[in-house]
Amino acid sequence: MRKKFVAANWKMYTNRVGAQQLAADVVKGLAGDDRVTVALCPPFPYLAFVADAVKGSKVVLGAQNMYPDKEGAFTGEVSPTMLLDVGCTHVILGHSERRHKLGESDWFINQKVRSALAAGLQVILCVGETLDERKSNQTDAVLDRQLTQGLVDVAAADTPRLVVAYEPVWAIGTGHNATPEQAQEAHAFLRRRFGQIFSEKAAVALPIQYGGSVKPDNAAILFAQPDVDGGLIGGASLKADSFLAIVRAGIS
Ligand code: PGA
Repeated sequence: MRKKFVAANWKMYTNRVGAQQLAADVVKGLAGDDRVTVALCPPFPYLAFVADAVKGSKVVLGAQNMYPDKEGAFTGEVSPTMLLDVGCTHVILGHSERRHKLGESDWFINQKVRSALAAGLQVILCVGETLDERKSNQTDAVLDRQLTQGLVDVAAADTPRLVVAYEPVWAIGTGHNATPEQAQEAHAFLRRRFGQIFSEKAAVALPIQYGGSVKPDNAAILFAQPDVDGGLIGGASLKADSFLAIVRAGIS
C-alpha cells in the first residue's frame, strides 16, 4: 500500500518567526508519528530556519520552485544545489500559480523536473485543469499534456522520486474542492497515463496528491479514495491545528 504524503505549501505567506513557530508546532503535534509523510514548503528566505526547526524529526523540507541550472547569471533565481545545501529533499514544480500567473510552460517545467531529479531532489509535479477546460470537457487532454510534457526524457530509474499533485485550478484557494469522485477519476486517469509512459509497476508505486481547498472536514473522504495518496495543502497548512488535522486524516 502507498504511504500517504501530505505537503504544506505556504506560498508567499508567513514571516521568519511565524514560519519557525509553525514548523515547530507541526513537529510537536506529530510527536514522531511517521505513518504519513509530511513535508513543509516555506518561502525561500525561510527554508534554512524551517530546516533547523524540523531537524531531528521525520518532517521533511521542500521548496516551492527552482531554476533548472546549477548556477549562473540568473538574477533572482535559486538552483537545485542551493536547495539541497539548505536541507531540502523536495521541490514543488509546475504549480498552477506559476503556470498561470508567471507564464511557465510545460517545456520549462520539464527542464526543472529533469534538473531537480538529476540533482537528487524529489519532485512534486503539479497538474490541473482550469474551470473553462473542465467545462469544455478538456480535463483529460490537459492532464495528459501536462503530465506527458512535464516528464519528457525522465528516466524510469528516477520515477521513485516523483510525486504528482492533481490540483484543479478552480479548486485552489476558492473553497470549492473537487468532489471525491472527481478527484478519484482524475487520479485514476493520471495513474493510468503514468503507467503507459513508464510501467505498471511505477504507476502502482506513484504517490498522487490532491490539492485544492483541502480542509480538516473534507480531507478524510478525499484521502479515502483509492488513488488519492494524500494532499498538497495551501491555506489550511498555515495553521498548525488545521494542518495536523489534515495529516491525521491520512492515517489509515
Ligand atoms: P489551497 O491551495 O489548499 O489553498 O486551495 C492548494 C495549493 O495551491 O497547493
